[in-house]
Amino acid sequence: MHNTRSTTTPIHSQFLERMSPRAFVPEALTTAQIEQLVDAARWAPSASNKQPWHFAYALRGDANWDAFSAIPNEANRRWCLNAGALIVLVSDRQASPGKHSFDAGCAWGYLALQAHDMGLATHAMGGFSADEARAVLRLPEHLVPEVVIAVGRRGDASALPDDLRERETASPRKPLAEVLSAGPSSPGFEKKGFRPCTASAFRSCIRSDSSPSHARAPLPLRAPPGPPSPGRCG
Ligand SMILES: Cc1cc2nc3c(=O)[nH]c(=O)nc-3n(C[C@H](O)[C@H](O)[C@H](O)COP(=O)(O)O)c2cc1C
Repeated sequence: MHNTRSTTTPIHSQFLERMSPRAFVPEALTTAQIEQLVDAARWAPSASNKQPWHFAYALRGDANWDAFSAIPNEANRRWCLNAGALIVLVSDRQASPGKHSFDAGCAWGYLALQAHDMGLATHAMGGFSADEARAVLRLPEHLVPEVVIAVGRRGDASALPDDLRERETASPRKPLAEVLSAGPSSPGFEKKGFRPCTASAFRSCIRSDSSPSHARAPLPLRAPPGPPSPGRCG
């Protein structure tokens, strides 16, 4: 499949090349390959370096494969059972309350890019049965199945059913300007529901630049009591 992605800044080509295909060559990965993928993932940053993640895997055809195959939902099972391995990424909400999913997501990103570097493809799936994952992995309550990841060698899209073959393309991204703003005011920000900030209201929300830095009061964490004033920073 031809990847037509391009962008405007000189980023590493891996970011454009990595994508989530559904066509895989039905051959098992090796344990060494899985170890290499998860080795990369575990170098991801995490809040207080808690590393609240765990990767449980089954190699295609091994003793755990059938049980892992039952975890993705029906729509994903149509294609992901050709993958060379299925990995269930689990986060630990007890180890890092409020940050476990965020950190696990970063680790998944590292794994995906390492796979790309090894000539492998990955496809994360949020469409899976958490109950099934919990049962297969015998997860206690505080361990959260976040995503199932199909990994393998990229296959030929012609092997896919018609409807999936049509979707085997490199997806686009929102424009940079829509996801980036200098400060709080930008069309992209406002589209997402953030209230527009007038220049004067913005100034009242930030520390005065005229006071010496050591004398600046910290920003209040909560709005002071009273009726909301129009134009306050959201
Ligand atoms: C958390 C998460 C859940 C996803 N769930 C599914 C899924 O259930 N089925 C699927 O086909 N793709 C799934 N995807 C893949 C996304 O649709 C895909 O990453 C996105 O469209 C961007 O395309 P790209 O990865 O090819 O760049 C998921 C991706 C992530 C990160």
